[in-house]
Amino acid sequence: MQNRLARIFSPSSGRTVMLAIDHGYFQGPTTGLERVDVNILPLLPYTNALMLTRGILRAIVPSSFNSGVVLRASGGPSILKELSNEQLAVDIEDAARLNVSALAVQVYIGGEFETQTVNNMTRLVDAGLRYGIPILGVTAVGKAMVRDAKYFRLACRICAELGVQFVKTYYVAEGFETVTASCPVPIVMAGGKKLPELEALTMAYRAVSEGAAGVDMGRNIFQADAPTAMIQAVGKVVHELMKPQQAFELYETLKYEKKGVLAS
Ligand code: R5P
Repeated sequence: MQNRLARIFSPSSGRTVMLAIDHGYFQGPTTGLERVDVNILPLLPYTNALMLTRGILRAIVPSSFNSGVVLRASGGPSILKELSNEQLAVDIEDAARLNVSALAVQVYIGGEFETQTVNNMTRLVDAGLRYGIPILGVTAVGKAMVRDAKYFRLACRICAELGVQFVKTYYVAEGFETVTASCPVPIVMAGGKKLPELEALTMAYRAVSEGAAGVDMGRNIFQADAPTAMIQAVGKVVHELMKPQQAFELYETLKYEKKGVLAS
C-alpha cells in the first residue's frame, strides 16, 4: 500500500501532480482527448500519476510508463443519463494484474444514488485492503448541488471515515482550508472546467497552500493552449510552491519556446 502511494505522491515534496484523462468513461471523446496517443503521451514525463480507464491504459499507454496509475473503477451511466447511478466497473484482480497504484471511485453524496455509490466505495476499500491497493474517493457534484466548503467537508469526511486512502475534491474560494483540515487523509484538488491558465495556476497554488496534497487536473492541462508547458508550470506550483504569476511566466516562456519563437 505505501509503496503504491509513493508512486503517486512524490517522496521529495510529499505532493502529486495527477493528470486526469478518464473523462471518456462517461463523456466519450472529450475535447483534447480525441487522440490520447498524439495529445497526451507527450505529457507523461511531467506527471506523477495518470488517472485513466483500463481501456485507454491497455490500448495506448506504453508498458514502459513507470509513474503512478490511478485507475477509474466506477462507471455506468453516460452524460445522457443520471450520473450518480454508477456501479463498480473493474474487478480487483484486473487492477492487480495491471499493477495499478490506486483505484478511483466516484461518490455522490446528496445525489440520487448516494447509498449505491457509497456502497461501491466501501466494497472497493475492502477489496483494496485485501490486495494492498489504495482507493481514491472522488467527491462528485451533481448538476443541481451547491459547491461550498460545508458540502465538501461533509463529502470528504464521509469518504475518509469509510476508509479511502485519499480523496479528490473541488477547490472553493471560501473555506477550503476547513475541508483539508477536517479530512484525516490527503486531499487532491480536482481541476474542473477549463479556466484561463493564470487562474488555473492560482487555484492550484491556493489549494496546496491551504492544505491539499496536490492536484488531479484534466481539462485545465490538456485543453490549455500549450499542454506540455501547462503541466510543467503546474508541477512548479505544486512541488515547489512557485507563485502563480511566476508559474504563468514560465508557462508563457515554455509555450513560445515550443513554437520556436525564442529559437528564431
Ligand atoms: C470527474 O469526476 C472525473 O474524474 C473526470 O473525468 C476528471 O477527473 C475530471 O478532470 P477535470 O475536471 O480536471 O477535467
